[in-house]
Amino acid sequence: MDLTDKTALVTGANSGLGKAVSRALAARGARVLLGARDPERGEAAVAELRAATGNDQLELLTADLKSQAQVRKLASEVSEKAPALDFLVNNAGTAFPKRCLTEDGIECTLAVNHLAPFLLTNLLLDQLKAAAPSRIVNVGTRINYSMELGDLNWEGRSFRMMRAYVESKLGMLHFTRQLAKRIDGTGVTVNCVFPGVFKSNLGGTDGAQGLFWKAVSLLVGWALAQPEQAAERVMYLLESPEVTEVSGEYFGDCRIISMPAQVRDPAANARVWEISERLANLDEA
Ligand SMILES: NC(=O)c1ccc[n+]([C@@H]2O[C@H](COP(=O)([O-])OP(=O)(O)OC[C@H]3O[C@@H](n4cnc5c(N)ncnc54)[C@H](OP(=O)(O)O)[C@@H]3O)[C@@H](O)[C@H]2O)c1
Repeated sequence: MDLTDKTALVTGANSGLGKAVSRALAARGARVLLGARDPERGEAAVAELRAATGNDQLELLTADLKSQAQVRKLASEVSEKAPALDFLVNNAGTAFPKRCLTEDGIECTLAVNHLAPFLLTNLLLDQLKAAAPSRIVNVGTRINYSMELGDLNWEGRSFRMMRAYVESKLGMLHFTRQLAKRIDGTGVTVNCVFPGVFKSNLGGTDGAQGLFWKAVSLLVGWALAQPEQAAERVMYLLESPEVTEVSGEYFGDCRIISMPAQVRDPAANARVWEISERLANLDEA
């Protein structure tokens, strides 16, 4: 599909899935704003994708999504550069091996994987509406836990890395459902995608890939999919005419998949929204 008149923001665009999605968008002619936290890694990705696609409308925007101030700065840069934003891909994700707190007092995994996309998306809604029909894709994962709604910030329980990762991704699913309701009729859609399991540096920069995972990837890494295959699932949600009107759903490989029971509960969606609004200080906008 030709996307020459479209503008996209992709977070976590210097590596893995985010880079593969940015490459696919650039290859179709879209203008791509690439979000990354590290200027060197970000510039390297921009240079690589420019050379690979011949698209010179690629631009790096740096922000560490752990920081709400930096999320706000990113949103304001995007709104200056793209008053009409066609695609937002909330892809950046990580895991932290131990509980740590951000400068805003938020558990780091929750901050990056759920509250940053929550805040960024809310701050860019006017730009997305200005480009309607426009699409938001949130990158989730597929594990059937439920969120501990009384303690999203891990204040009263002992921290478990995998549980924190999955809960943060469930937060994103609750957010997808509730946002879809709130923006119904605006021409902006929002869906969540499980990209499959693929080769990745997930959590590597934040020290979450211990010896066990390194051994696993050495032993069975060859059998894992490549990020480019995972990117096809995201591209389907960004460009397929089949999903123009679909919003608030959870997709696997180009089809709707089931959500965990807690996420199907509208009261839980509303509760997660309300807590997220408070933790992300949304009303300071
Ligand atoms: N790989 C899988 O099998 C799998 C399965 C299900 C879901 N996912 C999801 O797919 C998405 C992409 O992951 P990936 O596998 O492609 O891993 P990846 O190669 O590590 O990419 C993650 C991206 O997020 C960025 N990021 C992490 N923390 C950040 C922060 N504080 N601020 C700004 N950017 C930050 C990373 O930047 P740095 O390079 O600077 O660290 C990187 O660009 C994630 O949301 C992940 O949860 C992956």
